[in-house]
Order: sequence, then structure tokens, then C-alpha cells
Amino acid sequence: MALEAKGVSRRFFRKTGEANFFNAVERTDFLLPEGTLTVLMGRSGSGKTTLLNMLAGLLTPSEGQVMLDGTDLYALPDKALSRLRNQRLGVIPQGQTGLHSLTVLENVAFPAMMYGGADATKDAAALLERFGIGRLRDARPSELSGGELRRMAIARALINRPAALLADEPTGDLDDENTVVVLEALKDVAREGAAVLMVTHEAEAAAYADRLFRMNAGTLNEVSRAE
Ligand SMILES: Nc1ncnc2c1ncn2[C@@H]1O[C@H](COP(=O)(O)OP(=O)(O)OP(=O)(O)O)[C@@H](O)[C@H]1O
Ligand SMILES: [Mg+2]
Repeated sequence: MALEAKGVSRRFFRKTGEANFFNAVERTDFLLPEGTLTVLMGRSGSGKTTLLNMLAGLLTPSEGQVMLDGTDLYALPDKALSRLRNQRLGVIPQGQTGLHSLTVLENVAFPAMMYGGADATKDAAALLERFGIGRLRDARPSELSGGELRRMAIARALINRPAALLADEPTGDLDDENTVVVLEALKDVAREGAAVLMVTHEAEAAAYADRLFRMNAGTLNEVSRAE
């Protein structure tokens, strides 16, 4: 199922020269096709997270629309958007997250049970094993290293088998070995049919990309690669 931004932009208020605002993302069309790993690179502050958050249903665009299979995300009432986000969109946010009163296993299973779904403990345990943190299932997020927390967030984003997966620097805290595990996992999720977007500074991620884009001061461009 494709996820598509149509003419989206995002303006933030900040005094810049004469103006009181600036466009973190200029008007952009961005199609994330199903079954495809799209990689987005670009300098710090160029607008990558802003664009990803708009695609994730987390940040209302100043203009334009975000469509998932014919549904305009921001035309939905709040509750319907929350539910769609839970069930169709997997998000791995930049920075550390996790519910600190839950164990690692419960954190991963939680999105599957939020709307009264079946017990997802088994699936959650399998995801923890896949990312090499099975032994930490009963630990609390506050007891994990940065890389372990990152892997927990990835497992959590995958628990509902999302139609689209949006990952914001998912390998930021990882060593080489786990970086490869995560890159392979994102590639697998795309091969299984999801539309996957990964924002990264990791040069080696380009080798995994089906499509490669670069963001420069709020403007998105596809990078053509000589194969
Ligand atoms: N809520 C906000 N209010 C005002 N300005 C913001 C807000 N969020 C982001 N910005 C600004 O918008 C620009 C783009 O930010 P964004 O987080 O999208 O960058 P990025 O490309 O993800 O950077 P990084 O690689 O450092 O994560 C930056 O100049 C940032 O300071
Ligand atoms: Mg960012």
C-alpha cells in the first residue's frame, strides 16, 4: 500500500531576517511505493524529520495532503487518525522512546493490544530475538543501552505488520553488526510488501536503498545512481 505526500509543506514560526517564519519543508510531492525501501539523506536541519512526521500522521502539513490508500490522513477525525496510525503505520522516532512503567516485552507488544487485539506476547518475543535483545524481555527501558533501546523501538514499530514503516535514523546508536541487522530487517519489511522510508546519515544505507533521495534546505531531490 503506497503512502503519498501531495504538495506538502511545513512552515514554522521563527524570526529569520525580515520574516517571522520559514519553510522547514518546501512544497513537496513524495511517493513511497509498496514493496520499496526509500532512503532519505541530508544535512542536519534540512527538514527530514519534519517530512517524515507529516508522512507519519504526527505533524499537520501547512499545505497539501498525505494519502494512504485513498485516505487523506489529516482529513480524518483525531480518533480515526490515531487508530490508523496504530494499525497501518509503523514509526521509529528519532531519539529515545519507550514507556518506562512497562517491560521491554510489554513495550513491544503494547501497540498490538491497544485496541483490544489478541495477546501479542509471542510475536513480541520473536521480534526481540530477531534483533538480539531476547534476554532483555523483562528489563525496563531505563536499564537498556542506547542501541538496545533503539532495537526495542524497531521491534515495537513492526508488531502490527504496518503497511508503511517510517524510520528516523534507526541505526543512530548502533554498532556495525547491529546496523547491518537493522538495514537487513528494513529491507525485509519492504520485500514483504510495505512502503518503507528510512532517514539516515549512514553512507552504507545507500547500498540497501531501492530509491535514494536527498533533502537540502527543505527541498527534496531524487539522487540518480550509476549502477
Ligand atoms: N517545532 C518546531 N518549531 C520551530 N522550528 C522547528 C520545529 N521543528 C523543527 N524545526 C526546524 O525546522 C528545521 C528542520 O528540522 P528537522 O528536524 O526536520 O531537521 P532534520 O533534517 O531532521 O535534522 P537532523 O538530521 O538534525 O535530525 C530545523 O531548522 C529545525 O530547527
Ligand atoms: Mg531529524
